[in-house]
Amino acid sequence: MYRTHNCGELRMAHAGNEVTLAGWVQTVRKFGSLTFVDLRDRYGITQLVFDEQLNSRLSEKPLGREFVIQAKGKVLERSNKNSKIPTGDVEISVSDFTIINSAVTPPFTIEEETDGGDELRMKYRYLDLRRPTLKRNMELRYKVNRSVRNYLDSQGFWDIETPFLIRSTPEGARDFVVPSRMNEGQFYALPQSPQTFKQLLMVSGYDRYYQIVKCFRDEDLRADRQPEFTQVDCEMSFVEQEDILNTFEGLFKHVFKDIKGVEMNEAFPRMTYDDAMWHYGNDKPDIRFEVKIQNSKVNNEVYCAALAGAGFKVFDEAETILMIAVPGCSEYTRKQLDELTDWVKRPQIGMSGVVNIKCNADGTYKSSVDKFYSEDKLKEIGSFCGAKAGDLILILAGAETRTRKAASELRLYMGERLGYRDHAVYKPLWVVDFPLFELDEENNRWVAKHHPFTSPKPEQIGLMDDMSKYGDIKANAYDIVLNGTEIGGGSIRIFDRGLQEKMFAALGMSKEEAQDKFGFLMGAFEYGAPPHGGIAFGLDRLCALLGGQESIRDFIAFPKNNSGRDVMLDAPSFIDDTQKKELGLTYK
Ligand code: AMO
Repeated sequence: MYRTHNCGELRMAHAGNEVTLAGWVQTVRKFGSLTFVDLRDRYGITQLVFDEQLNSRLSEKPLGREFVIQAKGKVLERSNKNSKIPTGDVEISVSDFTIINSAVTPPFTIEEETDGGDELRMKYRYLDLRRPTLKRNMELRYKVNRSVRNYLDSQGFWDIETPFLIRSTPEGARDFVVPSRMNEGQFYALPQSPQTFKQLLMVSGYDRYYQIVKCFRDEDLRADRQPEFTQVDCEMSFVEQEDILNTFEGLFKHVFKDIKGVEMNEAFPRMTYDDAMWHYGNDKPDIRFEVKIQNSKVNNEVYCAALAGAGFKVFDEAETILMIAVPGCSEYTRKQLDELTDWVKRPQIGMSGVVNIKCNADGTYKSSVDKFYSEDKLKEIGSFCGAKAGDLILILAGAETRTRKAASELRLYMGERLGYRDHAVYKPLWVVDFPLFELDEENNRWVAKHHPFTSPKPEQIGLMDDMSKYGDIKANAYDIVLNGTEIGGGSIRIFDRGLQEKMFAALGMSKEEAQDKFGFLMGAFEYGAPPHGGIAFGLDRLCALLGGQESIRDFIAFPKNNSGRDVMLDAPSFIDDTQKKELGLTYK
């Protein structure tokens, strides 16, 4: 037997017991004739004490960091207790030990805080995973996974697997493709999601389906994006949007209770997509703080009369002017204001500057443009914004899309600076009534905002006959947003061949192309397809949020770096000529 207990288990109640532990040597410290070793495993750390008799063996073959050892001995009360660890009241007085395996010196310290840089830790991910930080994340992920399964199981969902070697599923990213040896010159695509399969399962009558499944998307990576990530993918039949929102709101409440002990008794707020864009400048509003965007002029329509016609060219000529009243910042110094200007001028934000109005605590107003605006006008602007004494109004002006995006970013940035974006506060909401289509400005064509299987609002189907109305059509599509991150999205689907054909046509697909790519689905719709809808959550994102972090990377055991590489395996990699030949591939 390698061990009687694990390294996180022993307490005062075990004092006097003879035990055997096995694990990794975290630290070795010599104190006079005694040697202290912290022994680590998945469960925790226990202190071992080697006395004089064993010390001669230790000097013959010293223990090094990350050696795997087995130690036998008696549990004793520690004279110098360590309240920071659960086993800190006891230590093991070692009577015998075995070195099971030695280790070369690890490239970084394997403790809570490490000296290893990102790439190094990714290269030696198996060592990084030994650190308590990552171990906690993996445990959290496992528990979220279990909690999700328990809930869905209790609601009668079946877990059904779907294939990975498929044809393209359009979720808006590029496909990863796999060449087929047996079908030379042809390629499978890895699923961007199991979307069409889950719809087919509805046609099969399996009306509550779920799967915790890998999805593959070749897109630009960010902190919350990986090329392969995990979805909790779900679909239901004979349901309306309301049924889906209720079922999955239930899932979230269950997971929060399980994982965080947080009771979410209130219904999650719902906001339309239009309202989210208008008040927050994006479709995933962070509602942990109240500050909203004030729309003073939008697409040349003036809403705040006091701003217009003052002879200030920047505002008079701007298509859109958006303001935010930031609480308690009226005393910002020149330097702080200059910093804000530099911040909005960064290429990612792309504004030429930011105008400010200080609503001073004594009731006076001061602005960076008071040459153009009397104090009365400033006061009017202040009241338009609902600004209070002590607030700082920040104003951005420019083209609509860019300015709205910048105002949204500025709102978040100020929220961060002011500590409003507390990781321990959870504010979920549903964003509903997404547009059906979105204009791809680069290629000047309409694309599906969610995906092409999403149903328009039934009363708006008629508008699909008139391209000039595409921008007005709303879908029964919804996202769940938590603390400014989109953690899930779904829709009520089209389940009628005619409407699906119409949708593909609207997206510029010829009848032949639609039949070639999605004939299987439209064909299935002709064999008795039930009304259905569903949703998918990003499991990695949910875990990162529950773990209070931005990046999903540390909630994935073996993630890719920002260039999509697995630096441990050194993948992707070149393949040899034989393999290429078998696959019928040639490269320049
Ligand atoms: P969607 O494309 O919105 O919907 O994806 C659902 C959720 O998956 C997560 N997600 C990602 N997480 C990490 N890295 C990525 N690259 C990544 N891309 C997406 C997000 C997102 O909300 N088939 C539809 C769902 C449906 O209609 O039922 C779909 O995939 O949290």
